[in-house]
Amino acid sequence: MSRESMTSESITRESITRDGPDVARTFAPTEHFQAQANADASHYEHADRDSEHFWATQAENLVWTQPWDEVLDWSNPPNARWFHGGKLNVAYNCVDRHVESGHGEQVALHWVGEPGDTRDITYAQLKDEVSRAANALSSLGLVAGDRVVIQLPMIPEAVVSMLACARLGLVHSVVFGGFSPAALRARVDDAEARVVITSDGQYRRGAGAPMKANVDEALVGAETVEKVIVVRRVGEPVAMQEGRDLWWDEFVASQSPEHEPESFDSEHPLFILYTSGTTGKPKGILHTSGGYLTQVAYTHRVVFDLKPDTDVYWCGADIGWITGHSYIVYGPLANRATQVMYEGTPNTPHEGRHFEIIEKYGVTIYYIAPTLIRTFMKWGEHIPQGYNLESVRLLGSVGEPINPEAWMWYHTHIGRGTTPIVDTWWQTETGAIMITPLPGVTATKPGSAQVALPGISVQIVDDHGAQVEAGEGGYLVIDKPWPAMSRGIWGEPERAQEVYWDRFKAQGYYFAGDGAKYDEHGDIWLLGRVDDVMNISGHRISTVEVESALVSHPAVAESAVVGASDPTTGQSIVAFVILRDRNDGDIVDRDAIIASLSAHVVAEIGPIARPKRILVVPELPKTRSGKIMRRLLRDVAEGRDIGDVATLADTSAMRTIATSMAGTP
Ligand code: WT7
Repeated sequence: MSRESMTSESITRESITRDGPDVARTFAPTEHFQAQANADASHYEHADRDSEHFWATQAENLVWTQPWDEVLDWSNPPNARWFHGGKLNVAYNCVDRHVESGHGEQVALHWVGEPGDTRDITYAQLKDEVSRAANALSSLGLVAGDRVVIQLPMIPEAVVSMLACARLGLVHSVVFGGFSPAALRARVDDAEARVVITSDGQYRRGAGAPMKANVDEALVGAETVEKVIVVRRVGEPVAMQEGRDLWWDEFVASQSPEHEPESFDSEHPLFILYTSGTTGKPKGILHTSGGYLTQVAYTHRVVFDLKPDTDVYWCGADIGWITGHSYIVYGPLANRATQVMYEGTPNTPHEGRHFEIIEKYGVTIYYIAPTLIRTFMKWGEHIPQGYNLESVRLLGSVGEPINPEAWMWYHTHIGRGTTPIVDTWWQTETGAIMITPLPGVTATKPGSAQVALPGISVQIVDDHGAQVEAGEGGYLVIDKPWPAMSRGIWGEPERAQEVYWDRFKAQGYYFAGDGAKYDEHGDIWLLGRVDDVMNISGHRISTVEVESALVSHPAVAESAVVGASDPTTGQSIVAFVILRDRNDGDIVDRDAIIASLSAHVVAEIGPIARPKRILVVPELPKTRSGKIMRRLLRDVAEGRDIGDVATLADTSAMRTIATSMAGTP
């Protein structure tokens, strides 16, 4: 239901302003890095020769209890089956096999709590914890295929819960802690979850905030939920519902640490993760086992150059997003990484917190989002300069395009001007990294994600699906199936075809929703979404979702939401609303109404969707066919001249809106 479509020409035009003078600058890998890198050019050659053979070689790094019959079954696109007939246990691959190979004493997680408490958890301890949790869940009668919703802060129990589900073939659906009770409930209902795992509360910026109370609110009348398991984290008093609620530290902790893992088919569902699309209803993106684990493990090994015996890896994402699933839980643990897991915000209790942790644990690989890099820039380089960051040897970026200036800052002030930076493009739907330089192989280029991973094939195409020339922009498509690809949308088998595959149906391409361009060397530059999806601090939020929340407020008649570019968060949410009455632009209690609308969006979706600005307007710009012209609203929100408005049904609307924008903060 995209209201206005972007053409490949308009993408080319728009991209010109973004490159700046940095296009030609490249950083060749150092000889030292190259000599020890996990990847080399032969990966590309192997994959180009025979991509299925290439992926089968990667899959062989996992332990399968039954070999697959066929590497890829693509007989019924877009439904792929990878390693069909093969059987494995994902949790066994992430935990037990490392203990069995003699690495039980290796630290899996250096966990750091926000208030300063820490826990080091070895692979042997992780195995016991996961086994206990698996025994607990099966004692509740859960069987393979049942769904478990997890809403937890960044604490070890989040990892343990996910792995316990994987071990039993239960399908987890992790819900980010910043989602509202209403958003949680929608996910619980959609997945028909039998169990919810949560905590009493969570630390946020130095204070405990309730979590269980939100879950209780979400679950009123939720018929599918039989049990709620509650981890004690902040010591918040909570109401425990007799017969439904169980304390983790009693119920799970008292279980046996012995648990025999069962094998599941390669295509057995592993998890659902909801993400925003172009409609108001989030989509439950489904991922399965063998192909997913193969690609997350391979990418984690080569893109982050992981050396399990010496590296200390840290991905700063939250477990509630795909980055946390693929690059905190499944990829790193499959590769026997030692990693840092941090519970809190980057400026609690001070702005040097991340660097203090890097110094303390000797972090060697550090993977964060550009929005955080830009925040560090704002705080000032004197902050990282106060710490010893010499252990860092590789940096990663994810979630949104990284502007060359932020890339250079990261390179200079965190990477000492020497470490490679991998700018990794991928999505919840792709499951794993798809476009990235390979450290030690690719000469990196600030601002560009550059090239498809070995075994992955992408193109930038025009409106008709034809590949564009070097120097031109268009739509990013993936033109061949890949192991970690989503296996569809939970409960809506027809929808994936429509959302991702119909746009270039004739060609059989997956449409990612991103605009991109090739530079003159054929390297790929990502240019942001071309649909109605915003990217706020690397989090995906749909304009329609926020609009639906706004119009569900009794005072709102109509609304239009746009993502306006923001120097720190990439984009910020700007909402234009028409009120039901008193829409004369002269509302006495305007501030109170705006505050109430803002609170309403937070209640409906969560704090991550809080608009940065809400503007009460008398009218919205619409085409003669009634479509809201968001591009114009974005121009206004970003302070640009609105230019030619000839296609508008009522040109005076824009003048009024532009005037009402003037003088707002
Ligand atoms: C969207 C996917 C990938 C995990 C985090 C976000 C944008 C992601 C990059 C990058 C430019 C990027 C795209 C994509 N995106 N990484 N390196 N350069 N854009 O996952 O929530 O599914 O969002 O994030 O627009 O479509 P997600």
